[in-house]
Formats: sequence, C-alpha cells, structure tokens
Amino acid sequence: MQVIKSTKELDNQLDQLKKDGHQVAFIATMGALHEGHLEMIKDAKQKYDTVVCSIFVNPFQFNRKEDFETYPYRLEQDKALLIKNRCDILFLPSVDEMYPNKPKMDYKLGELSTTLEGEHRPGHFAGVVAVVSRFFEIIKPTIAYFGEKDFQQVAVIKWLVKEFQFDIKVEVFSTVRDSNGLALSSRNYNLSEEGKKKASLIYKSLEYCRKNYKKENLNQLLEKAKSILGEDFKLDYFEVVDEETFQTVKEANQIKPRAFIAAYLEGVRLIDNMSLI
Ligand code: PAF
Repeated sequence: MQVIKSTKELDNQLDQLKKDGHQVAFIATMGALHEGHLEMIKDAKQKYDTVVCSIFVNPFQFNRKEDFETYPYRLEQDKALLIKNRCDILFLPSVDEMYPNKPKMDYKLGELSTTLEGEHRPGHFAGVVAVVSRFFEIIKPTIAYFGEKDFQQVAVIKWLVKEFQFDIKVEVFSTVRDSNGLALSSRNYNLSEEGKKKASLIYKSLEYCRKNYKKENLNQLLEKAKSILGEDFKLDYFEVVDEETFQTVKEANQIKPRAFIAAYLEGVRLIDNMSLI
C-alpha cells in the first residue's frame, strides 16, 4: 500500500493510473477503522481496479471542540488493517494540504441543515461538504462509498454531487452491526465493554419502532421506543422523518418513514437509523 500525503503526488499517481484505464473507488474515513469500513474496502476491491482510502479528521465538521479532541485516532492499527485488506493507496493529508485556503461554508442545504444532525450539530454538514468536495476534486473517483449509518450525510453527499456536477457514483453501503445489533462506528472505541453492550439498546429501540409502526400512534410509539433506552442515555433526538424530504412524519402513513436517533452514552455521541417499512 502506498501512503501519500501530498495532493499533488496523489493527483499525479491517479492521473497515470486513469490513463492506464483504471477505475478508482474512494472511501473517505476519519480513521479508527472498523468492520464497516473494511466491508466497503472488500467490496471495492472486488469491483474496481484501484482503491483509495483517506484518513483525515476534518476539523471543520466538528461543532464541539471536545468532540474533535476526543475523536479516536489509531493510525498504526488502521494502516495494518488497510494493508491486510489490500487497500492500494492511503491518502493521509494534513489540514494545510487539504485546505490551502479557508473553505467556504455557506452551502444552501435546505432541510438537511435544519433537521436531525443539521439541527443538533450546526455547521457539521457544511464541514462535510467542504471536505468531501475537496476530496472529490483531488481524487476524481469513479465511485465513492458512504455508510448508511450516516443516512443524512449520504443525502448531503448526493446533494453535493448534483450541485457541483461531479461525475461520481455514490455507493450507499448497508450499516454493519455487531452481533448484538450495535451499529459499528469509530466512536464505539470510546465506549467501555459495558457501554458497548448497553449501546445495543439503540438497535432494540429502532427495531421496536419498525415492528410496531402502524400498530401504534406515532407519539406512543416513540415514547415506548425511548423508554427502552433507559436513563443511561442522554437523547439528542429520536424522530421519524420521511427519508427523502427529511420532514417529520406525523401519522403512520408516510411513504418512506425512517426512524433516526442520536444519543449520548458514557459521553459518546452515537447515531443510528432504520427504515420502518
Ligand atoms: O463519515 C465520516 O467519517 C466523515 O464525515 C467523512 C465522510 C469521512 C468526511 O470527513
């Protein structure tokens, strides 16, 4: 695996590969890799000629300094995992390399910036757009993989591809879960063993919503789902919205309802979502 830190070097390298007819798959990460990332790499390796992964903890997408400072960083373990899974290129830029100029952050994201993550993490999606559009400009991949756990982020990326007219396919990869249902996330590294067990209640509460959607009044459904979590969780939101418009579902008759949750456990912010049909 090649480790490239400079955008110029990456550009030259990829230009040559593309001239040789290579299709490039790109997987953006903030490191602290887990099986969810590795599944995407394995899939990409089977289908595309060159797989590029980035590890870059993007400061502009954190709305809380403490969250940025405590984000797990495991570079040596990550490199070993990438080599084992036959990643071709690891792009490991510095902040200055990524942002020679301060990024513009005034994107018109509509509902995406005022609901769920957009509402609770002001500026977060602008930071995601800034970094992913920069990656896309540098790498110009054929395809880019993103995980369904960050469902609203995927909607933001699709908006970005359309808005900036990138000729890039977006592959949405199903959430990979632990055997107890917990959605894999880099943030899980900051949970204790006990916390990881408890965190599976998030999955159970989403499953409750899925099984009982249409059987119960929506408010009741959400109240019961929240009660499954118990007192160890500090909830940011637990809502059912239409997965295309991100508008709140008021009655259980919406075409594409999806439940979204964000909650703190042991001070770690966890998110998950599930389609209710
Ligand atoms: O999902 C993530 O890990 C990040 O938001 C991403 C897409 C790598 C951008 O920093």
